[in-house]
Amino acid sequence: MDYLSLINRDNLLDKTYIPNNLVNANSIYKDNIIVVKKVSNMFNSLKKEALKKGYDIDIMSGYRDYNYQKKIYDRLVNEKGFNYAFRHIAPPGGSEHQTGLAIDVCIYRDGKCYIEHEISNFDEIKWLHNNAHRFGFILRYPYGLEDITGYDYEPWHIRYVGNMASYIYHNNLTLEKFLVKK
Ligand code: DAL
Ligand code: ZN
Repeated sequence: MDYLSLINRDNLLDKTYIPNNLVNANSIYKDNIIVVKKVSNMFNSLKKEALKKGYDIDIMSGYRDYNYQKKIYDRLVNEKGFNYAFRHIAPPGGSEHQTGLAIDVCIYRDGKCYIEHEISNFDEIKWLHNNAHRFGFILRYPYGLEDITGYDYEPWHIRYVGNMASYIYHNNLTLEKFLVKK
């Protein structure tokens, strides 16, 4: 899969799509989290750099197959209704997690793991948002660009895009906007 591939509600992956080169991400959060090999390597470099600052960033979700995405999508629709789910979770086939290029991070502090909105104002997250591009990652669902991405702000979801990450970061673009501009 091209690192710049656009996956969203309008650009769905086939049910049968499984990325090549999936490897274990060696997350402390949970066993058996897998991502594309290049993504794992780049995340490990990012993690090392963050640790120099005392920031412990780990992976809480990586590759999710079509059926698993369907399961969590259906569950959220049942629990919170369609309108809420629409802003928060991709439909089956529409999640970047199916590409193996997306990572949801969690933050360790004093042995405890923090996730999702509780990490929004953490220094670790501010650092991540300003430095992820150096390792080929972008913040995929930024604050203020919800109308373009179609999802509420997700401070924890980063997406590997490769070399163009710095351009996207410095120009405050979403992947949608970047690909239209090209
Ligand atoms: N939460 C993101 C949009 C996903 O489900 O892929
Ligand atoms: Zn995510």
